Amino acid sequence: MNWEEFLAPYKQAVNELKVKLKGIRDQFEKSDEHTPVEFVTGRVKPIPSILDKAKRKDIPTDKLREEMHDIAGLRVMCQFVEDINRVIQHLRNRRDFDIVEERDYVTNQKESGYRSYHVVVRYPVQTISGEQMLLVEIQIRTLAMNFWATIEHSLNYKYNKKIPNNIQRRLQRAAEAASRLDDEMSEIRVEIKEAQKVFMQKKENEKKNAEN
Ligand code: GTP
Ligand code: MG
Repeated sequence: MNWEEFLAPYKQAVNELKVKLKGIRDQFEKSDEHTPVEFVTGRVKPIPSILDKAKRKDIPTDKLREEMHDIAGLRVMCQFVEDINRVIQHLRNRRDFDIVEERDYVTNQKESGYRSYHVVVRYPVQTISGEQMLLVEIQIRTLAMNFWATIEHSLNYKYNKKIPNNIQRRLQRAAEAASRLDDEMSEIRVEIKEAQKVFMQKKENEKKNAEN
């Protein structure tokens, strides 16, 4: 197995998609609209993790391209839960890749407490020996969901995927707190929007009155 050769197109896909997804943010920033994208990260799965997962899921090396869909992975972080849907809508409308799978762990939270929206896309990479279709996993989540997942992931690492029960329970409670934080922020946002509307109307009325 020549890993460098195997992974090269995945590196290219991650680099290209990072630029493209960050582009969403830049475009929104130039308009006056709230951007649904706060920041974007990407990585190619490290070789030991690929081997680990292949073993765990019984995937032979010659089937990795078709069967392991997160060798290339992107994450899109949003401020508000509502932004997740806007990002998904945008991804569905794009013409540079096709969505082949969606998993909604935002509404269907995992047992662990994990929340995120997962999308797997078929992305064409242009190489000097022609086009290569690759599967890429895009995870879309709020900042609060990302905070939780990052901490849980490092605890899993620390405890070698065997987090003690009492800590697991604490993590589940922390996930509930993160979910409430997201809900509170959404409500605050609605209130801010309404306050802005009232403020704008007041200004308009004052302008009209001054003209008369
Ligand atoms: P993996 O073998 O881990 O890829 O699981 P899967 O093929 O069943 O897919 P799933 O959609 O459940 O998870 C894919 C990815 O989501 C993982 O590689 C993680 O990045 C993330 N993820 C899923 N569950 C959890 C979780 O409980 N905690 C954290 N921190 N991340 C998770
Ligand atoms: Mg997976």
